[in-house]
Amino acid sequence: MYLLYTIIASLVSFLVLKWMKKRKYCTDSKRLDGKTVLITGGNSGIGKETAIALANRGARVIIACRDVEKAEKAVREIKFRSHSLNVLHMELDLANLRSIRDFCKKFLQAEKRLDILINNAAMPSVLDWTDDGFSMCFGVNHLGHFLLTNLLLPRLKECAPSRVITLACSIYKYQKLDFQDLNYNLLPFFTYSRSKLANIYFSQELAHITEGKGVTSYAVHPGFAQSGWTCHYSFLFRILMKAVMHMFFVSCEVAAQTVVYCAVSDDAAKHSGGFFVDCKLANLRPFAKDAGVAKKLWEASERLVNLS
Ligand SMILES: NC(=O)c1ccc[n+]([C@@H]2O[C@H](COP(=O)([O-])OP(=O)(O)OC[C@H]3O[C@@H](n4cnc5c(N)ncnc54)[C@H](OP(=O)(O)O)[C@@H]3O)[C@@H](O)[C@H]2O)c1
Repeated sequence: MYLLYTIIASLVSFLVLKWMKKRKYCTDSKRLDGKTVLITGGNSGIGKETAIALANRGARVIIACRDVEKAEKAVREIKFRSHSLNVLHMELDLANLRSIRDFCKKFLQAEKRLDILINNAAMPSVLDWTDDGFSMCFGVNHLGHFLLTNLLLPRLKECAPSRVITLACSIYKYQKLDFQDLNYNLLPFFTYSRSKLANIYFSQELAHITEGKGVTSYAVHPGFAQSGWTCHYSFLFRILMKAVMHMFFVSCEVAAQTVVYCAVSDDAAKHSGGFFVDCKLANLRPFAKDAGVAKKLWEASERLVNLS
């Protein structure tokens, strides 16, 4: 009898885990020949898988990375796995506003097209600071991408219809923004949640600003993925998380599907400013749809990065 219970319990656990990891694949087979895609942090995790999927559809893919060695290695892998030679990297450190400005200058000089910008790079919840004194999460995840997108916006408008996809996270719901302390850097989980909530507000306000100008904007929760984010933590935590991720998290290839969907789908294009999960439009908590807060964050971010 005991054996039977064990078998049933194992079977149920197996089915529950399988259901939890079930994710939708992007079924739209649209090609991207002649289009240029820029992916921040495309040297690992979800960004790299997105790069492979989009290069495979014929796009010219540029990954913007801070570590040249890692970037070169990733470019070799992306070329190999996508069967495309139209892949390259450019140097960008989102934790440094000077680096972002230099990158944009070089990019705009070298590249005539920008059809899809994917704001993918992120730092998990680490208590660290950017070169300009912002909390690492808020500085890299939100402010860095805010400045980058704004500086590249003229090229996106020239290449309209174009898209901006910003990787957010469903844990946005556990925090609200504190405008008295945007640079909050105390409890790591809260710091990360706030930066991902900022990504959502940013994506919505961008959609609002670019309405009717041929640029559309999407925020994506890719699902919890077995990526390399744990490398910023202790050995013990990494071992523990490896087991947890193996059981509950999806592969990066699967996590990239909603990003790919937002890059190619005509249906997604009807919902600029939307939040996407599992290759479909998803609901946000009411506070995360507050257009007043989104505008306030945009204006505060302009001041913080000295964008006139
Ligand atoms: N993994 C998940 O479960 C999950 C869940 C929800 C949302 N997301 C979101 O999905 C996106 C991708 O996550 P991931 O899990 O694939 O992360 P990841 O494997 O940790 O990759 C993050 C990427 O960002 C780059 N990066 C970090 N700081 C940078 C900087 N200052 N300048 C330029 N690049 C920088 C990293 O470069 P280095 O290799 O040089 O560090 C790396 O390529 C993130 O926005 C994340 O918030 C992930």
